[in-house]
Amino acid sequence: MKPIKLLIDLAKKYSWPLFWAILAMVGLVGAQLVIPWIIRSLIDSLSQTPLPSDIIDMVTRLSLVALAVFIARGFMQYIRSYQAHVAGWGVVADARKLIYQHLQQLSLRFYEDKQTGQLMSRLINDTELFERTIAHAMPEMFVNILTLVGVMVILFSMSWQLALLSLIPIPIIIITLIQYAKRVRPAFIYRQQELGTLNAILNDSISGVKEIQAFTREDLTMHRVGKQIETYLESNLKALKLMATYTPLYDFAAGLGQLIVIFFGSRLALQGNLQVADLVAFFLYLDSFYQPVRNLSNSWEAVQESLAGFERVAEMLNETPDVLPPEHPIPLPKPVRGEIRFENVSFRYNPKEAFVLENIDLEIPAGKTTALVGPTGVGKSTLVSLIPRFYDITCGKLAVDGIDVRDLDLYELRANISMVLQDVFLFHGTIRENILFGKPDATEAEMLAAAKIANVDEFIAHMPNGYNTLIGERGVKLSGGQKQRISIARAVLKNSPILILDEATSAVDTETELLIQQALDRLIIGRTTIIIAHRLSTVRNADQIVVLEGSTITEKGTHDELLAAHGLYYKLYTVQQNLTLIPAEEAHN
Ligand SMILES: Nc1ncnc2c1ncn2[C@@H]1O[C@H](COP(=O)(O)OP(=O)(O)OP(=O)(O)O)[C@@H](O)[C@H]1O
Ligand SMILES: [Mg+2]
Repeated sequence: MKPIKLLIDLAKKYSWPLFWAILAMVGLVGAQLVIPWIIRSLIDSLSQTPLPSDIIDMVTRLSLVALAVFIARGFMQYIRSYQAHVAGWGVVADARKLIYQHLQQLSLRFYEDKQTGQLMSRLINDTELFERTIAHAMPEMFVNILTLVGVMVILFSMSWQLALLSLIPIPIIIITLIQYAKRVRPAFIYRQQELGTLNAILNDSISGVKEIQAFTREDLTMHRVGKQIETYLESNLKALKLMATYTPLYDFAAGLGQLIVIFFGSRLALQGNLQVADLVAFFLYLDSFYQPVRNLSNSWEAVQESLAGFERVAEMLNETPDVLPPEHPIPLPKPVRGEIRFENVSFRYNPKEAFVLENIDLEIPAGKTTALVGPTGVGKSTLVSLIPRFYDITCGKLAVDGIDVRDLDLYELRANISMVLQDVFLFHGTIRENILFGKPDATEAEMLAAAKIANVDEFIAHMPNGYNTLIGERGVKLSGGQKQRISIARAVLKNSPILILDEATSAVDTETELLIQQALDRLIIGRTTIIIAHRLSTVRNADQIVVLEGSTITEKGTHDELLAAHGLYYKLYTVQQNLTLIPAEEAHN
């Protein structure tokens, strides 16, 4: 998608508000041009000798016209301002929704090398630039051209000589503006970048305040923050200094225009070639003459800045997910059994990196429990993340109930899998809302049952508001084990045929683990369950234990079979047994 097309697509919906805004703006230009004309007519009449007989009536009439113009102007200002903003902010809101909707569809791989801050900035700041273009710059460009033409016609109709002379400052104004754009604008952009850096440093320092205090690094961070505040101040003052240089230059050029009118206009008037009323009108119109030139340049800059924003947004909207849903999805057979089969599957996160998983041949039978064990970093979490297609396998075949996962409807596939992820993420909200995330339309009884299985009810009793207790950003007010239990409850409530527990009970004590284990034992009957655990005591009852070692499967079997095989499982198991036994033995001595 091209940035311009995006702009047009977004603005189309707001044709009517834009139409009203522009119409009101045209009216405002008219009003702006009428007022000096009224004053001119007034002076014209007052300076006649003898005065016309109906002079008082005329003054009243002119006052009434001025009153009508002022009232109409107020009304049109309202229409212009409100309707233009309806369009401008409407486009911003639509763009934000569009981006967020798109972001949700992008695969995890997209998020890996992105900073949350960057994406937020694109969603919020880049779209905010659209408002300037739609609500201000584009209508203003139109209006300023109109004003410029209008004023020019009036000036030339009054005195073509003086009108020509008043054009002299225009090139100076344009040169000043070009220089301004070339030098001042980048200084402000640089200032903005420094502000971004300051934000990032502050964000880091405030989020990491616990670490800073624990390591007593207050001085170091204060120095870092202080230095950046200074840098920002410098860049800010530099930009403001440049601006302070150019603004008087522009004003001088505009002043030059008045000088010309004073110098030549008075001479023309003395020669009888210009009426006094016209001379006054010239002064009054002069501002409306130079101002549009300046406005046009500002608007043009705003449009360009917005276009850069549109470009960045379009770029993001052009980003395609690398996990694509199939064109003609095959429906899963009902009821879903949940048999999973890996056939010679290999996987790497990045074409440039080594394979994380190689030649995985694994049958995970329906309704049974399969445990995945192995050293840290071997690829256990990676293996299970392939099942809901968080990533697509590099080669081989992965099927659920005999159908290649790439032929299944992505939504249907994921709807049939409940996961407790290794890094628990809870949303800001109440505990109830977080559990209901697994099934928003669940009844209270269902929710409570899930909470009981996950042993959430045990600590809920101590919470001030029970299930309505608000948990902060990332659930900061909960312990690691409590968070894990809520995430188990959430997965249990989803009640799908496939259940994946990745280190689901690693942060709870052995007693709680046993309680959850017992509850899960009841739950996992008839469900395909995959358990990843380092604590091998939790997996000994699994129907099948799979040992991953060095990117591939080295052992497979039941607990007893693997112990008998005297392989890695045996080694890990005996080490863990001894670790738990030693303190007990020491206690005896
Ligand atoms: N998103 C990613 N991009 C690139 N490499 C990754 C990514 N996630 C994990 N890895 C790498 O893949 C390998 C396997 O990681 P994985 O998280 O699957 O291990 P694990 O067996 O679950 O370990 P643990 O027991 O510590 O949870 C690691 O070497 C890790 O560095
Ligand atoms: Mg893991």
